[in-house]
Amino acid sequence: GTTLKAAAERSGRYFGAAMGSDRLTDSGFLTIASREFDMMTAVNEMKPDATEPNAGQFDFRRGDAIYNWANERGMRFRGHTLAWHGQQPRFWGSLSGSALRAAMISHINGVMAHYKGKFAYWDVVNEAYAENGSRRSSNLQATGNDWIEVAFRTARAADPSVKLCYNDYNIENWTYAKTQGVYNLIKDFKARGVPVDCVGLQTHFTGGSSLPGNFQQTLSSFAALGVDVALTEADVTNASTSQYQGLTQACMNVPRCVGITTWGIRDSDSWRGSENPLLFDRNSNPKAAYTAVLNAL
Ligand code: XIL
Repeated sequence: GTTLKAAAERSGRYFGAAMGSDRLTDSGFLTIASREFDMMTAVNEMKPDATEPNAGQFDFRRGDAIYNWANERGMRFRGHTLAWHGQQPRFWGSLSGSALRAAMISHINGVMAHYKGKFAYWDVVNEAYAENGSRRSSNLQATGNDWIEVAFRTARAADPSVKLCYNDYNIENWTYAKTQGVYNLIKDFKARGVPVDCVGLQTHFTGGSSLPGNFQQTLSSFAALGVDVALTEADVTNASTSQYQGLTQACMNVPRCVGITTWGIRDSDSWRGSENPLLFDRNSNPKAAYTAVLNAL
């Protein structure tokens, strides 16, 4: 039979997963990861608190272990993430204003220098919008409304070879205020020449049995601005086969939808483990949703 990655590659796409460094000794996980996936992301190991625990002191050990494992197996890599309201280094908590802005810039420069030339994508900014479509309030937002733009300009200068992404959740429904807020950000960046190459839709679907009917319209609308789009952290309550089939079909129908990543591989790897939201069960067996995705690729 075929695999997720082989099926995705037929149309020039990838099929990705997120892994934590604790999975590097989990043979069940590693067997599926190397067989089925051709793009890898670190769950927590490349977040700001992990890579720069103290000011100017970078720690890439756990991130490198994941990257090296994936790279040795010919997988590409998505860096996640450089600037976010969550999982920040403790020392950012005592900074504000121009000092926090400088810390963000120096963090982006330090991390991107280490991985320069190695990644296909970087999530430069994660989750900067609120549900009502305005900017989410955070210490980074309080440094000035231009913080997102500064992050992307810094990132482009630090590594011109990697595609720079904005990543968020609850931006799958086209008529939702948050989707429109992010759309207007990307539209403005493209109009003013701020470097942004891709939009990641996390695609954490909850409840229900159908996905937003306009999901494909969201993907094609972003793509029409001149960016790649990707489903970056897919997981679905109870692994609904119709939702997984639908999100895969939506990506396949949009030429600039470059790939799908699930946030873990087996239900036991998931941050939403009690909802059994992934494509493989706790015994490493493929679920019905796996077949639904494979047939839609
Ligand atoms: C989650 C991880 O899976 C958890 O292990 C961690 O405790 C919290 O973060 N959106 C994101 C991811 O961009 O970084 C989050 O990952 C899930 C939601």
